[in-house]
Amino acid sequence: MCGIVAYVGSRRAYPILIKGLQRLEYRGYDSAGISIIDENKIITYKKDGKVDDLISHIDDRATNGSIGIGHTRWATHGKPNQINSHPHSSSSGKLSLIHNGIIENYSSLKTALQEKGYVFKSDTDSEVIIYLIEDVYNSLAKKGENSDDSLFKAIIIALNEVIGAYAIVVIQEENNNAIYAARKGSPLVIGIGNEEYFVASDASPIIEFTNKVIYLEDGEVAKLHKKKDVVIKNIQNKLKSPYIQELEQTLESIEKGGYDHFMLKEIFEQPKSIIDTLRGRINPKTNDIILGGLIDHESKILKADRIIIVACGTSWHSGLIGEYLIEDLSRINVEVEYASEFRYKNPILTKKDIVIAISQSGETADTLAALELAKEKGALTLGICNVVGSSITRTTSGGTYTHAGPEIGVASTKAFTTQVTVLMLLALRLSQLKSTVERENYNFLIKELNLVPQKIEKLLLQNDMIKEIAQEFYNATNFLYLGRGVNFPVALEGALKLKEISYIHAEGYPAAEMKHGPIALIDDEMPIVVIATLKDNYDKVVSNIQEVKARGGKLIAIVTEGDIEVKSIADYCIEIPKCFREISPLLTIIPLQLLSYHIALLRKCNVDQPRNLAKSVTVE
Ligand code: F6R
Repeated sequence: MCGIVAYVGSRRAYPILIKGLQRLEYRGYDSAGISIIDENKIITYKKDGKVDDLISHIDDRATNGSIGIGHTRWATHGKPNQINSHPHSSSSGKLSLIHNGIIENYSSLKTALQEKGYVFKSDTDSEVIIYLIEDVYNSLAKKGENSDDSLFKAIIIALNEVIGAYAIVVIQEENNNAIYAARKGSPLVIGIGNEEYFVASDASPIIEFTNKVIYLEDGEVAKLHKKKDVVIKNIQNKLKSPYIQELEQTLESIEKGGYDHFMLKEIFEQPKSIIDTLRGRINPKTNDIILGGLIDHESKILKADRIIIVACGTSWHSGLIGEYLIEDLSRINVEVEYASEFRYKNPILTKKDIVIAISQSGETADTLAALELAKEKGALTLGICNVVGSSITRTTSGGTYTHAGPEIGVASTKAFTTQVTVLMLLALRLSQLKSTVERENYNFLIKELNLVPQKIEKLLLQNDMIKEIAQEFYNATNFLYLGRGVNFPVALEGALKLKEISYIHAEGYPAAEMKHGPIALIDDEMPIVVIATLKDNYDKVVSNIQEVKARGGKLIAIVTEGDIEVKSIADYCIEIPKCFREISPLLTIIPLQLLSYHIALLRKCNVDQPRNLAKSVTVE
């Protein structure tokens, strides 16, 4: 989604803005732009395409000002072209704005402004906000209000008329000491440097300058004047005290660290990220699990009629694995819903339901809306999120962080395995509270869970072999992924990984469902990836494999070390270390992530920023 970066201070703004935009590229975008105030004039450069295209467009005309705003746009209203890209200037050209989010009533606001004689340049909803702010600012001036705080006041008044989601930053030509930032529904972080301020949609453009940050709350507007303290008001015009936090993120965590792509780095980081997820949550002496953010809600979970998991995309797939784990181990009824469907289907919800949102970013619009609905209906809402302080973590009554660290590659990898790890911890914890798993078996499962990082290390050694398999199949036009039980969602996730980064059509199916339709697709051109690990309905999957083979399909099988039977049938086999069935998704997904990565590379696709995709989907 759109990325925001802004700076006010004594340094040259241009390199800070450009570097910031490059750090935000992972969010997905189709055009970029900056405005800088230089010698009391706002100078704006915009370009469709990538940040590199913007840099070439600016060429040596870069400016020297030390205040500016920058934006990467993911088109919603209007085509991704130069005119629609941000920043947008006001009617007089004296104000400039960047915006992330969607203004729902932009059309009526636009008509009202047009009736006053304003002429708009772009097709965007964003341009309407800056025209509206200027209109309010001018009417305050007509009433004789012309103080240092007039623009602050105008922004607050204007935002009271706006319906929708926004994170905005505004600069004003005659004021090269202050920037104004506001949020509602879209995240915004303020970095506090040495007599200077940074603003961004996430911490990545800020980390290298300061670790002191303020996360603006919904409905807050900040005035950031260099060399002065930050002033925050809400849109009811009440002063708020800023809550300054320390960022835990490091610069290394958002850089490629020697890998060719963030996605590859993040695949290889999984042993470490799972260790981070597990850290401090299993008592080494007793094996008891402590999930701090859920302790207060455990008794309610135990009494619940059911748990409803809401999520989108990859997070929905980990939810499906959570369903298997929680139902199997703790015998609590679980339903998994696409957040986007759940919110519109008039769901039956009661105070005895627990709704758990799973989200890497914690900002996915549909997941957030599903939570709001659940809250309205009186259900207890909990979250499993990666991004600390994100909107979902603020909306829910409790939850658990995955601690995967920043995930920059658009295709989710380590977020998925850490979500599954948290769900495993939750299922095991509930199993002990409900006495549904005997202590001996529980201890075995804990031991297995602790061994996952080293088993993934071992699996990653097969990277070169997986690359060779990719060589054989990168020209395929379709792929089918099959799995059963807890590995069926892994088949879905494997297919999603392939389609999103290589643009090959891929489908995931429960292996036995193949006979009910997809089998018609199988011919000798069709690669089929089958997860056929031991003890996971192995014999049934072997029969499904025979059916594929009989129709000429090319088989890539994920098997358990030492497997003989599937190996004798499949064209290619990738072995995973022996493990318990419940743990297997944490291992079987790794070769599928690597296979997608190598196929996408061979097809010369942009692995980290696939076309049309955004890292966090903050619009419906
Ligand atoms: C796929 C992917 C998406 C996200 C989905 C939900 O690789 O990344 O499918 O999983 O957009 O995002 P979060 O987890 O941030 O809510």
